[in-house]
Amino acid sequence: MIVAGNWKMNKTPSEAVAFVKELIPKLAGAKAEVVVGVPYVALPGVVEALKGTNIKVAAQNMHYEEKGAYTGEIAAGMLRDIGVDYVIIGHSERRQYFGETDVSVNKKVHAAIGAKLIPIVCVGESLEEREQGVTAEIVRRQVKIALLGVDRSLLLDSKLVIAYEPIWAIGTGKTATNEQADEVCRTIRALLAELYDKDAAAKVSIQYGGSVTAANAKELFAMPDINGGLVGGASLKADDFEVIANA
Ligand code: PGA
Repeated sequence: MIVAGNWKMNKTPSEAVAFVKELIPKLAGAKAEVVVGVPYVALPGVVEALKGTNIKVAAQNMHYEEKGAYTGEIAAGMLRDIGVDYVIIGHSERRQYFGETDVSVNKKVHAAIGAKLIPIVCVGESLEEREQGVTAEIVRRQVKIALLGVDRSLLLDSKLVIAYEPIWAIGTGKTATNEQADEVCRTIRALLAELYDKDAAAKVSIQYGGSVTAANAKELFAMPDINGGLVGGASLKADDFEVIANA
């Protein structure tokens, strides 16, 4: 069970450090693995502030090349060097606004793995795709391409996380029903079993994301194929994130 916050483009570095200091005592007893996904410039301060605690740190993106002439980009090795453990890859906002594709997601997954970061790979359908009845096809395609060439041992070691985030539920206050969310997570798990095998599929944490709140987290996380959440808006409030991480 992994509960990760995705702060998106929120909080300055000093606000970020103050915020995680507030989180430390609240989350000290959490049974889930707790992760905070913070903006690049806040990473060093947040990593430092969380040393010796049970809270892990994620970046929200990275580039797939190791180094070179890519102005403005950040490589996986740079993140690993400062003590980052996770990286969110292929968030729908990056797909929508920054030209992320299934192919670039796959390249980033390989680069993350190479740097010993745990990728949180985001997939999910748009409202139009759901209404067209192609949710399963869309999500299967996204997962399949994201994982091309990824070794089974990585899944067995639980070094890869998948987040199912229906685009229509992100930041809209419209949460998928428990059944809708679980159905797609089950589809993803079945695909993993098809691509690898049942043992490997069982070891992958599949998160639900999209308007997870303190009020709905417990029921969502109790569904059989949902192993936690990727939480946007509600992860910016310490009390809400505490309830969700303990759900
Ligand atoms: P939300 O965002 O919880 O604000 O809907 C989720 C996400 O984008 O990861």
